Amino acid sequence: MNKTVNLDWGKLGFSYIKTDFRYVSYWKDGKWDDGKLVEDNMVTISEGSTALHYGQQCFEGLKAYRTKDGKIQLFRPDQNAKRMNSSCRRLMMPEIPEEKFIDACIQVVKANEHFVPPYGTGASLYLRPYVIGIGDNLGVKPAPEYLFSVFCCPVGPYFKGGMQPVNFTVSDYDRAAPYGTGGVKVGGNYAASLLPHEQAVKRGFADCIYLDPATHTKIEEVGAANFFGITKDNKFVTPKSPSILPSITKYSLMHIAKEYLGMEVEERDVYIDKLDEFVEAGACGTAAVITPIGGIEYKGKLHVFYSQTEVGPITKKLYNTLVAIQLGDEKAPEGWIV
Ligand code: COI
Repeated sequence: MNKTVNLDWGKLGFSYIKTDFRYVSYWKDGKWDDGKLVEDNMVTISEGSTALHYGQQCFEGLKAYRTKDGKIQLFRPDQNAKRMNSSCRRLMMPEIPEEKFIDACIQVVKANEHFVPPYGTGASLYLRPYVIGIGDNLGVKPAPEYLFSVFCCPVGPYFKGGMQPVNFTVSDYDRAAPYGTGGVKVGGNYAASLLPHEQAVKRGFADCIYLDPATHTKIEEVGAANFFGITKDNKFVTPKSPSILPSITKYSLMHIAKEYLGMEVEERDVYIDKLDEFVEAGACGTAAVITPIGGIEYKGKLHVFYSQTEVGPITKKLYNTLVAIQLGDEKAPEGWIV
């Protein structure tokens, strides 16, 4: 089966492109069925589904990469499986066995192999697993049935320009409550971010920064990505809080900073009025990869880190090492590549 698709791989953004197959599995009477690949990209569910009314749903994002020798590899899918299960537990949805999650991802990649962008194009195949509460229901309670699905789309950079510095402003809105759902990947967090995002974009920023909801003094997230900064004494620093989504890219970068670049790594409070401690800063996530932060606007002033046009040297090294591991050009730590 040598299917091909006619896409301009180098020009892809982060948008929906219908691919050929998606995986679906249903949970009913206390268990998941075997799951299968289907061609139909429409989901038909009861109008009473808890996913529609009470936000009982969660999702994940991971990528498949084409290596130089034409193989395809997934980056740390076990971590996505674990995080999805933590989201499922928080919203009282049934967990997906880790092997089932990884098998579903592999099936989807294999069935849509021709959509995996060629090596060297900067593009990859983004996989979107999700679990939603379905079935007839009216009251606020866990759904009687669930759908676990994985679809995929070939994607380019999340922020226009990719590895180009962009500016962010600090939002007055909160992304999450202190012990709410900020630490899990549920749709409600993202619905609540639409308005602050829109307001930031209208003012010329790529997105907004959310501060900690309790004191509004510490950085939590950068839009839908995590924050990191490089200190003057070459430490990789990233905020710690129960309401930050634990980014797999962020934890991978912490490992890379320590083990590949010999840097000290700190996960701790990052104060919005102490940005001077950083010589470089970035946003990181599966979709964003690393997006260098040119500057952050706070209380009417733009704090510029390294430069608004050039990428800092440490950010560049982190990016190059991460991408080299994802593309199979650099030896990956044990278990990172499937
Ligand atoms: C990701 O990096 O996978 C994200 O979750 C960001 C966004 C596309 C929701």
